[in-house]
Amino acid sequence: MILVTGMSGYIGSHTALALLNAGREIIGFDNFYNSTAEAVEAVKKLSGKDFPFYTADLRDPDSMEKIFKENNIDAVIHFAGLKAVGESVAKPLLYYENNISGTVNLLKLMEKYGVKRLVFSSSATVYGEPKTVPIKEDFPNSTTNPYGSTKLYIEGILKDVCVSDKDFSVALLRYFNPIGAHESGLIGENPNGIPNNLMPRICQTAKGIMKELTVFGDDYPTPDGTGVRDYIHVCDLADGHLAALNKIEKESGVHIYNLGTGKGYSVYDLIRTFASVNNVDVPYKVCPRRAGDVPVVYADPTKAKEELGWEAKRELEDMCKSSWDFVKDK
Ligand code: NAD
Ligand code: UFG
Repeated sequence: MILVTGMSGYIGSHTALALLNAGREIIGFDNFYNSTAEAVEAVKKLSGKDFPFYTADLRDPDSMEKIFKENNIDAVIHFAGLKAVGESVAKPLLYYENNISGTVNLLKLMEKYGVKRLVFSSSATVYGEPKTVPIKEDFPNSTTNPYGSTKLYIEGILKDVCVSDKDFSVALLRYFNPIGAHESGLIGENPNGIPNNLMPRICQTAKGIMKELTVFGDDYPTPDGTGVRDYIHVCDLADGHLAALNKIEKESGVHIYNLGTGKGYSVYDLIRTFASVNNVDVPYKVCPRRAGDVPVVYADPTKAKEELGWEAKRELEDMCKSSWDFVKDK
């Protein structure tokens, strides 16, 4: 069975569904810090399958040990973590405790129960400000905020575990910018409060919750002056986890992959595409650059294609349409 941590979250719920649809058996857990049980019910409904789900916290080993005791776990896909860059700057210790200590707690239980396979949610943030694009997996690493540091530290911890135990296998998946939602409209991303990321902010603007979108800078050295990112459909990302799991079931050691499309789109590309496929207005105003933002980030996803046989298939139109379908009536 595959243990999915952070299963009720945005990427966890889509991956859980993909695993079930591929005939895998799963167990989920979450502490509902940034999600609700609705996503768990939706995954059960969409897959037509039941699975054990626990309310547990990475910081509370006893709550997690119950899961290891009661189930026969073969591998872990580890999504649980805090992910807000700004909050991590304001509350670094919360991030180090939750993400790093939490992962160490999980690894200790994996060791105790002989579980030696882990897929980890890393991030393109570990490339810092890349000197060139597209970004390859062997580019140098650096971070600019505590959230990014937690990802880099955890990558290092997992590499050390693989050195200490030659049977251990890990996939470090460096996601670029996940957006979009499952076509059913039943699972997706709907953060509480004012979100930080572009797509949820476009959605809130289209709904009238935000009066206008702030475009953070139109003076970047890019074709239209706005920041360029590699937006990837969350369902493509979910499929990438299945491919990575297949890989680490066959081969021990550390396997690092960029999960992106290899294409860069600007802020204006997103606004324009979103407004046109959904037939809605997205009013915006141009503001100064946001501190810490990098002009252009996109992946070279060749390694994942060659070694995992995985590549992203869905287009930007699909990403914009499904994001809106999920939130428009909420
Ligand atoms: P999310 O917040 O929707 O999901 C994370 C889940 O983990 C939430 O349901 C939350 O309640 C849970 N969680 C947090 N701390 C926990 C704890 N101590 N114990 C148990 N559960 C806990 O975020 P997401 O977008 O689905 O991200 C999943 C993973 O991917 C995270 O590790 C994130 O850092 C990483 N990631 C996300 C992005 C992105 O843009 N969404 C990009 C790169 C990497
Ligand atoms: N942007 C705006 N207006 C907004 C929000 C964002 O113009 O209201 C712009 C940003 O300046 C950037 C682009 O939209 O050019 C994307 O910004 P996001 O905040 O959506 O995403 P980032 O690339 O800045 O960061 C995201 C996650 C990080 C993760 C990183 C990995 O938030 O956690 O991707 O690549 F580390």
